[in-house]
Amino acid sequence: KSYVSIGLLGLGTVGSGVVQLIQNHQEELQHQVGCEVRVKSILVRNTDKERDIQIGQTFLTSNPDDILQDPDIDLVVEVIGGIEEAREHMIKAIQSGKHVVTANKDLIALHGPELLEAAAQNQVDLFYEASVGGGIPILRGLSEGLVSDRLKKVMGIVNGTTNYILTKMDEEGQSYEAALKKAQELGFAEADPTADVEGLDAARKMAILARLAFSTNVSLDDVEVEGISNLSLQDLHYGQKLGYTMKLIGIAQLDDQKVEVSVQPTFLATSHPLASVKNEYNAIYVKGEAVGETMFYGPGAGSLPTATAVMADVVAVIRNMRLGVNGKTVVAPRFKSVLKSPQE
Ligand code: HSE
Repeated sequence: KSYVSIGLLGLGTVGSGVVQLIQNHQEELQHQVGCEVRVKSILVRNTDKERDIQIGQTFLTSNPDDILQDPDIDLVVEVIGGIEEAREHMIKAIQSGKHVVTANKDLIALHGPELLEAAAQNQVDLFYEASVGGGIPILRGLSEGLVSDRLKKVMGIVNGTTNYILTKMDEEGQSYEAALKKAQELGFAEADPTADVEGLDAARKMAILARLAFSTNVSLDDVEVEGISNLSLQDLHYGQKLGYTMKLIGIAQLDDQKVEVSVQPTFLATSHPLASVKNEYNAIYVKGEAVGETMFYGPGAGSLPTATAVMADVVAVIRNMRLGVNGKTVVAPRFKSVLKSPQE
């Protein structure tokens, strides 16, 4: 056929961005993959709801089987969020031979290895670039760009909501509550922002990064987590006076063949490169034996930036379809047995 058919699960912040990007950049996409890229159907809870975006001929449904059982759909893009429902849909899609692209860090952090295994067995692709760092191509940076190196440390700001809150508190003296509300309005925060402010969202992303960086199966329980909900404006102001900026920092590093992963609020000297990362922006510093120090920087949340990461995966799937190599090039760590996570 002369087109690739996508079934989209979810039409929230990221889903709407994906629809818009496919519409507005269709020419670029066709040039890259050599065929039309169509969103055929979208799973939504309420098909009658008024929406801001144009969906043209696309079919809205509240029945997942309309997508998961449709033989014309080649590729399922999961941007519904949450764990159990998304997992069921994903497994069903994989078992029906459909490729899956997901932005779901919760699901990948919890069940990534088994889902990747299922994808490989069914010879379909499962890609998840949008799960970490929004528009920053950090997973490909680690699993392709730096694949030959021995990585030592991955450190950074991987949650846009908390960075936005800390920036507004620090620079404008806004209250924690007002800044959080604004981050929610801008579509950066999770449906339940507790995951953002308690550091869990960052912990999930650090687990995913650590797996790729160190080829070991880091589980969420291995990550030490502290969020920002107990910080006060006063704490930030004291830091400011002494030349420090507060950031929620994730660190994953190798220590004596063990991978240590943590997320915690940290005072950085204002001259530190991560101190100048503001608002919803993310930055990930990666240190490798051969490459030295690298830094990946960009918008870590938001509709269109995150949609570019989803579309990078969609294009990768379509290129693999052309080459007949789906399921063989999974962006997945090849786990080494020598490394142990701290709890083993
Ligand atoms: N809630 C997340 C954040 C969205 O603020 O970073 C992007 O993963």
